[in-house]
Amino acid sequence: MTYAEPNTTSRIGGLPVTSLVNGTTTDLPCRPATRRNSTNGTSRTDGPTLQSFRRIARLSHGSSHTGNALIQGENLDVLRRLNDQCVGRVRCVYIDPPYNNQERYRHYRDSGSHTAWLDMMAERLNALKPLLSTDGSIWISIDDREVHYLKVAADDIFGRKNFVTTIVWQQRTTRENRKVFSNNHEYVLVYAADPRGFRAARNLLPAGPELLSRYKNPDSDPRGPWQSISANVQDGHATESQFYDLVAPSGRVHRPPEGRCWIYTHAKMKREIATGNVWFGKSGQGVPRIKRFLNSSQVGLTPETLWPATEVGTNDEAKKQLLKLFPDNSVFDTPKPEGLIGRILSIATEPGDLVLDAFLGSGTTAAVAHKMQRRYIGIERGEHAVTHCATRLRLVVDGDPTGISEEVRWRGGGGFSFYKPRT
Ligand SMILES: C[S@@+](CC[C@H](N)C(=O)[O-])C[C@H]1O[C@@H](n2cnc3c(N)ncnc32)[C@H](O)[C@@H]1O
Repeated sequence: MTYAEPNTTSRIGGLPVTSLVNGTTTDLPCRPATRRNSTNGTSRTDGPTLQSFRRIARLSHGSSHTGNALIQGENLDVLRRLNDQCVGRVRCVYIDPPYNNQERYRHYRDSGSHTAWLDMMAERLNALKPLLSTDGSIWISIDDREVHYLKVAADDIFGRKNFVTTIVWQQRTTRENRKVFSNNHEYVLVYAADPRGFRAARNLLPAGPELLSRYKNPDSDPRGPWQSISANVQDGHATESQFYDLVAPSGRVHRPPEGRCWIYTHAKMKREIATGNVWFGKSGQGVPRIKRFLNSSQVGLTPETLWPATEVGTNDEAKKQLLKLFPDNSVFDTPKPEGLIGRILSIATEPGDLVLDAFLGSGTTAAVAHKMQRRYIGIERGEHAVTHCATRLRLVVDGDPTGISEEVRWRGGGGFSFYKPRT
């Protein structure tokens, strides 16, 4: 098989791409790739070059300016080639490596010695670590068999203090009766480059209708819907200035209950009442409560560590999606559902951020990142990098309606480039 090899320098991960068509450098749609110097109007290109890879035009699709990269190769070799250029640039690494469960799948083998598997994982984790940005995180799928060994190895590499949590994902909903226990869950280990940076930057999950319905506007406040919280708090750390008689506009006097004090000092409370931020009920005679406005609140749900199938999908659902997507391709045995990856990316990244998956499989991470307007690098060594990943991403660019598409209103667009390491 011969591949076209354009004689250009391109950049990956949504950073500047030297156009394969006309040789000009273009900015990307999601985040400015070329940072303009505001004082002199000049621009600075900023990003990894792909000199050690060749772009294969016939396997690429859509706009070549996005910087999205699908790389077919041995991940350790690819990561080493990327490493000096991508350091500190990746906001989220997701990996779903072979679990060492002694299975032989259609597209890859998952059997080896425990030691060889653990060494393989440690080498990849060491290569991935420097790529993370300061607010970045790495999410590692794994099952029961190796999770504890992997946790110890990962603690060693990322530092125990950088361990964030273990997600338990319900990967199947049916009972496996042939086994002693029907194993219905897997894990996702989460590490941050810096837990404080991650904590400050991580997103809440979108508020559902139930949470939003708690915001109402009984006093037709022009600032919009609000919900109220108690105006008194436990007095354990209170100062003198939080104990006083609170006189409502109606003239009624309120005192905090036993063991509690007012949330604000007297001076602040008076200001808050004057600005209409304290609610005394429709009659004006009620116990004071503080108004919290929907449009100035960070409304969302703190992610929990138990991810049920009803919220993020199952392996079976993921397989069914792939069958729908390409009925003629042999089915990939171990795909992750788009909902699972979608949730990870919505917690750990923003549109325009760079996402990397070094065990891409059928291309789920890249497909989801694309639909969620993130930039991505996907690495897969098998021939399914072509038959599954490239085919799937081509469909995504053309508006694939399956998986999370409806949820994120995906209509198509963008593009990706297919690369192989230069020999
Ligand atoms: C469990 S699958 C990933 C499935 C993927 N999350 C999905 O949703 O389709 C693991 C993948 O890693 C690939 N892989 C294993 N070792 C690799 C290596 N050293 N370099 C690149 N890819 C590798 C396998 O070919 C396989 O496709």
